[in-house]
Amino acid sequence: MSPLKVNLAVDPTPDYDSTAYKAAYGRLNGVVIEGEQEAYGNYLKLAEMLPQHRDAFTDAARMERRHQRSFQTCGRQMGVKADRPWAEGVFAELHDRFASAAEQGQLVPCLLIQALVVECLAIATYNAYLPVADDFSRKVTETVLKDEYQHLNFGQTWFKDNFDTVKADVQSANQAILPVAKQILNRISHDAERMGMDLETLEEEFTIQYGEALEDIGFSFQEVSTMAEVLDPSDPEVMAA
Ligand SMILES: [Fe+2]
Ligand SMILES: [Fe+2]
Repeated sequence: MSPLKVNLAVDPTPDYDSTAYKAAYGRLNGVVIEGEQEAYGNYLKLAEMLPQHRDAFTDAARMERRHQRSFQTCGRQMGVKADRPWAEGVFAELHDRFASAAEQGQLVPCLLIQALVVECLAIATYNAYLPVADDFSRKVTETVLKDEYQHLNFGQTWFKDNFDTVKADVQSANQAILPVAKQILNRISHDAERMGMDLETLEEEFTIQYGEALEDIGFSFQEVSTMAEVLDPSDPEVMAA
């Protein structure tokens, strides 16, 4: 019997100067810049929708704008042009879901999309990226990450304080939005891997952060598991349920 193979998919020291690395960096940098742009716009909209938290949301929007600029500097530092048109496509569906919920005055899906899903996507991506980042990008990402945890915490607290009245709406918004979040992770996975990121870490980080947020809000472990099943409807346990 042959010994177990070591997983060689993750290169601990990417060749930052290679054409392949730079091409992947350009697309992922575009996604990150676009994600920060979405976050900026979403928080400004949330400030209108929930005026009692206007200051907190406006502050968050300002921070997202700062993050965007920092990541633009990373791209320049790397000598890479961010692929914004591609990145816009990655976020198109989530963007449309937020816009149509906002148009209908539906606060819960909007807050779930930004304060839980976008923040957890950012946290997962940035955590998976740190071990393989170049020095400059790593320092920027570490600073940004601290803010994203703070944003996630703000969203969690609001949902927790309003849990009884919003529980059913959170469950139905989750059902619609979680597959869209998964699609985003799938679409960035190829470039993430080329940049040396561990895809299991990326996916696990997202699932863990998002699941922990839901539990903190007030959902039971069982309810969180059921809410996550929307990601894998072919799971035999789900089929049997
Ligand atoms: Fe951000
Ligand atoms: Fe954020």
